[in-house]
Amino acid sequence: MPKVIIGSDHGGYELKEFAKEILTGMGYEVVDAGPETAVSCDYPEYAFKVAEQVDADTLGILVCGTGLGMSMAANKVKGIRAAVCTNEYMAVKAREHNNANILCLGERVIGKGLAEDIIKAFMTTDFAGDRHLRRINLFDK
Ligand code: RB5
Repeated sequence: MPKVIIGSDHGGYELKEFAKEILTGMGYEVVDAGPETAVSCDYPEYAFKVAEQVDADTLGILVCGTGLGMSMAANKVKGIRAAVCTNEYMAVKAREHNNANILCLGERVIGKGLAEDIIKAFMTTDFAGDRHLRRINLFDK
C-alpha cells in the first residue's frame, strides 16, 4: 500500500486529522509524524520530521495555519519540493510540472471540502517528466 507521511502544527492539527481520514479512505498507509494534540508547537519541527521521511516512493502532507511556514521549512531539506496549494489546479500542476513531493495546506485558508479535493488531485496526479524534469533538475546548484 502506498505510504503518505503527514504532519502539522497546532494551526493545522484539525485539518491533519481530517486529511488522515481522506487518505485512509483512498487506501493509503498514513504515517502521522505528529503532533498528537493541538497544543501550541513550532511548525519547522514537524516540517522536518515529515520531509526527512519523504523519498522517491513516498509523498508527504504538511498542514499549518497558511501552509506557508511548512513549505518554507520543508523546502530546506534536500530533495524536497513542497508546494502550497489552495485549489485543485495548483495541486495538479504541482505534481505534473514540479513533481512536488509534499503538499502544504493552510487550515485557516481553505475549508474541508476544498482540502479534500486538493488532496485527491495531488495524490492521483503523476509527474509529466520530459521538459519538466529538465527544469526541476536546474533547482540543484
Ligand atoms: C501559527 O500561529 C502559524 O504561524 C502557523 O500555523 C503557520 O501559519 C505558519 O506559517
